[in-house]
Amino acid sequence: MTSTHRIAVIPGDGIGQEVCPAARAVLDAVGARHGVTFCYAEFDWSCARYQREGAMMPADGLDRLRGYDAIFLGAVGAPGVPDHVSLWGLLIPIRRSFKQYVNLRPIKVFEGVPSPLRNANPGEVDLVVVRENVEGEYSEVGGRYGRGFPEEMALQEAVFTRAGVSRIADYAFELATRRGNRVTSATKSNGIVHTMPFWDEIVAERAANFPGVSWGSEHIDALAAKLVLDPARFDVIVASNLFGDILSDLAAALAGSIGMAPAGNINPEREFPSMFEPVHGSAPDIFGKGIANPIGAIWTAAMMLEHLGHPEAAAEVLAAIAGVLAKTDLRTPDLGGTASTTEFTSAVVEFLGG
Ligand SMILES: NC(=O)c1ccc[n+]([C@@H]2O[C@H](COP(=O)([O-])OP(=O)(O)OC[C@H]3O[C@@H](n4cnc5c(N)ncnc54)[C@H](O)[C@@H]3O)[C@@H](O)[C@H]2O)c1
Repeated sequence: MTSTHRIAVIPGDGIGQEVCPAARAVLDAVGARHGVTFCYAEFDWSCARYQREGAMMPADGLDRLRGYDAIFLGAVGAPGVPDHVSLWGLLIPIRRSFKQYVNLRPIKVFEGVPSPLRNANPGEVDLVVVRENVEGEYSEVGGRYGRGFPEEMALQEAVFTRAGVSRIADYAFELATRRGNRVTSATKSNGIVHTMPFWDEIVAERAANFPGVSWGSEHIDALAAKLVLDPARFDVIVASNLFGDILSDLAAALAGSIGMAPAGNINPEREFPSMFEPVHGSAPDIFGKGIANPIGAIWTAAMMLEHLGHPEAAAEVLAAIAGVLAKTDLRTPDLGGTASTTEFTSAVVEFLGG
């Protein structure tokens, strides 16, 4: 039986435009083997559009995306456009309006890609950061006061809700039951005295519903150090928006390169499309050279396949990435090689039998 999925593709800026074709090539190749076709609609929403038309996306942008089965995004951000414009003009409205409250960021150390850490071995480091994605520290509440005066100040409020913390904790515990049955909750309740004890209390309440999962809370500073010293110890890490954002870049670097890290912005209730985007940004320093590592985007495509109900196809894509890394010397320059984005992508497609 064939199935067709309608995918909205937003390549965005910089290397986002180079890694999206890589992800599409792999999706088409694996899709052909599994009777799955993808009908892509590409949107030019980006900083270039902002510079041309004064907005990252059109006023009815969210309505245009609503009917798709999923959204695939490359990266946004460009020199000359403040980063908060690209983030708040595109990514955050999509994440929040479509209730993509889970940001899922898996990390693995692959055979053939040495970690910068001595003790991070392939097969041992395999963890997922479950980042709260729609509230927390990334809030619009606050302001700048007394601009230009000596007493100038800035105030930024964090927003944590019972519903928001409960659902992200539930997602993390449920995910752990399908993995290694261990959850680590990132906190900072010694320094942040209102929101973090609230987070801890609710995580503890939700944990009681998952007696088979062992769990603990760790302060974010100590947790960051432990992630470096003993990354194999972790299975599922649940964290607030800011802590999850920082930890997942750290964890991605442990795996060898931020260019390898995938992410999904998930609406678990499937009321709205979920959005899949590699963790990395638009990397203006390497844009145009054709050397962006496509692994993050390709693995992100595998996460999208899984979400769309094709776990076998997703597993094949991951096996193809691992296979190319284990059996060939092909590496993009961020991993010490000389391969181009298209050379590495072609090797993955070939591995898939495409
Ligand atoms: N989700 C997103 O769209 C997203 C995420 C992070 C940053 N950004 C934006 O991207 C721009 C650049 O940000 P940054 O420099 O902090 O982060 P970045 O991830 O773009 O780059 C950090 C470093 O990693 C390298 N790198 C990143 N992805 C790579 C890949 N696939 N292959 C090889 N090397 C790779 C870059 O060359 C750079 O040296 C900014 O405008 C920022 O706001 C966007």
